[in-house]
Amino acid sequence: MEREKILVTSALPYANGKIHLGHLSGAYLPADIYVRYNRLKGNDIIYVCGSDEHGVPITITADQEGITPQDVIDRYHEQNKAAFEKFGMSFDIYSRTSLPIHHETAKEFFLSYHGRDLLNENKSMHFYDEKATMFLPDRYVEGTCPRCGNEEARSDECENCGALYEPEELLKPKSKITGDSPILKETSHWYFPLGDYQERLENYLQDVNEKYGWKDNVLQQCKSWFKDGLKDRAVTRDLDWGVKVPLDSAIGKVLYVWFEAVLGYISATKELSIQRGNPEMWKDYWQNKDTKYVAFIGKDNIVFHTIIFPSMLMAWNDGNENQYILPQNVPANEFLNFEGKKFSKSRGWGIDVDEFLDLFPADLLRYTLAANLPENKDTDFYWKEFQAKTNGELADIFGNFVNRTFIFAHKHFEGKVPARSKLEKIDEDMLNTISGFPKSVGEYLERYKVKDGLFEMMNLARAGNKYFNDSEPWVLLKTDKERCGTIINICLQTIYTLAEIFSPVLPETSEKIFGMLNSKITDWDSCAKDNLPVGHQLNMAQILFTKIEDKDIEPQINKIGVPEGEPEVVSDEITIDDFAKVQLKIAEVLAAENIKKSEKLLKLQLRVGNEERQVIAGIAQSYEPSELIGKKVIIVANLKKAKLFGNESQGMVLAVEGVDGKLRVIEANSSVESGSIVR
Ligand code: 2FM
Ligand code: ZN
Repeated sequence: MEREKILVTSALPYANGKIHLGHLSGAYLPADIYVRYNRLKGNDIIYVCGSDEHGVPITITADQEGITPQDVIDRYHEQNKAAFEKFGMSFDIYSRTSLPIHHETAKEFFLSYHGRDLLNENKSMHFYDEKATMFLPDRYVEGTCPRCGNEEARSDECENCGALYEPEELLKPKSKITGDSPILKETSHWYFPLGDYQERLENYLQDVNEKYGWKDNVLQQCKSWFKDGLKDRAVTRDLDWGVKVPLDSAIGKVLYVWFEAVLGYISATKELSIQRGNPEMWKDYWQNKDTKYVAFIGKDNIVFHTIIFPSMLMAWNDGNENQYILPQNVPANEFLNFEGKKFSKSRGWGIDVDEFLDLFPADLLRYTLAANLPENKDTDFYWKEFQAKTNGELADIFGNFVNRTFIFAHKHFEGKVPARSKLEKIDEDMLNTISGFPKSVGEYLERYKVKDGLFEMMNLARAGNKYFNDSEPWVLLKTDKERCGTIINICLQTIYTLAEIFSPVLPETSEKIFGMLNSKITDWDSCAKDNLPVGHQLNMAQILFTKIEDKDIEPQINKIGVPEGEPEVVSDEITIDDFAKVQLKIAEVLAAENIKKSEKLLKLQLRVGNEERQVIAGIAQSYEPSELIGKKVIIVANLKKAKLFGNESQGMVLAVEGVDGKLRVIEANSSVESGSIVR
């Protein structure tokens, strides 16, 4: 069979937070399984990913933590890269959009459009925060979605219904920086004429769907876009973090993050080419009409990969000789929820990948996630289900079959592959069964039906157990050792096939089994042949899957967060010695002021006995700064120093939350001396 050339990308995650299980289920695990399978098929495939390092979420985090955007992306790029590695992701490259190669690529696209007068420069009204004296692009503003009424919609897109709109369409807008209602102020931006591409995009989607069968959830979203009619899209923003617009007249403007992030796939491939010592290699994939390009994403990214990115590539192709290919398929998944609710960092709902993998091996997680992928609808991760799948399927079916066969081979055949004697019907049936699996599993994986593919993989382990049970080698041991050897031979060949067909999902386990078999993985289509010669020496068995006991997951279940509406449980008890570590003192407020860009924080200058110190307190929504002056408050005086919005804070002011949600400082009697110790 001819070797296919395949380019696979997974959505570039923002380097603005840690990867959680929901991310893995959407765009990463299914892609990794697809890629690992295709490598074994002998296809010429590369798998590209990396961090998306621009955009407002990153600058907001930097503002909140009082650090630079570069600090934010450095932190999360490294953390996410490491977490992906631990999870067994087999990217050929995990790049970053902050690299010069990406900035160059994005600018090249912009200039190609601009040079052909494709972009329209328009003055329009944008949100502007008068207090913070800055424009508020994208997520700096939240409000109510004009389409579905979601009250947490962003300024230009709604996560709830997928709508994209212009900022002035957002209802009840609010600045994320000061909490004020922003005004609309005129600024000029460059617009990409998306509407001009509608007909071509519709034809493209119809064509690829007819040829390659796209998923319904993806097609439905595209159709609703087309129905509403595509409109021009601003591709620049008033921000200083991002890819600078490469025009002298564009001061303080960067490319809209989505307009360059999708190009990150191309720049990452360029970086890979350089790493491989063949700088032109990326063209073999991106500019080769024989390449099959598959873009794995989660449902929130559909429009960008099926409409915006293809239209950008079409626009490039119209004006350049070197022609880019368009995605052949975009098998987007729905979302994975956690124990019945959306993952939410702020509500502490969910678990990050690195935290999970400190507790359990990656293959166990890969298995449960793969068995439960949100391929057609949202699904959930439940700890109890994780336990049940690990114990009831991996350990009891797969692990058990491998284990009992190995014990038998070592105990009764000196750890060597026994010979096969005359085959009976049951043996022939089993051999027939095995031989069908590479194809049946492969067909599912090629159609992005990982869940079905995984079920099919486990069917082979089920068949192996049944064969072992039905042919009763332990009985034959005494009556017909030759026949017993035949059965163990076939069971070992089955294990070889299992180790290979499971390898895209369980790479570590597969490697372990090949170690036990003292053998190596072969190409996919040969994995059901007799790969273990008679007399071949096996290695000792190892434990493949350790069962998960209740006590292993109970602490996780207990800490998954307090469901909304339920009272918070009182935290763990502490001893008097613990409490004695906290030094509480009386402090007098000498001065107070607002902090620029923060709606919650006030900067206080306090007198604590002879000493003066600065404390940042989250009470800006309850007090005018002047109201606080002269008050005697209680502070935690020995709290480790911290920086908030760039301001040092040396302590914490104690406050009570009222029923109205406002924080009131606890005041001491005015006669108490500042610096006094509170016991
Ligand atoms: O949703 C996200 O996390 C985006 N950073 C995905 C970008 S995909 C591609 F365009 F880079
Ligand atoms: Zn909406």
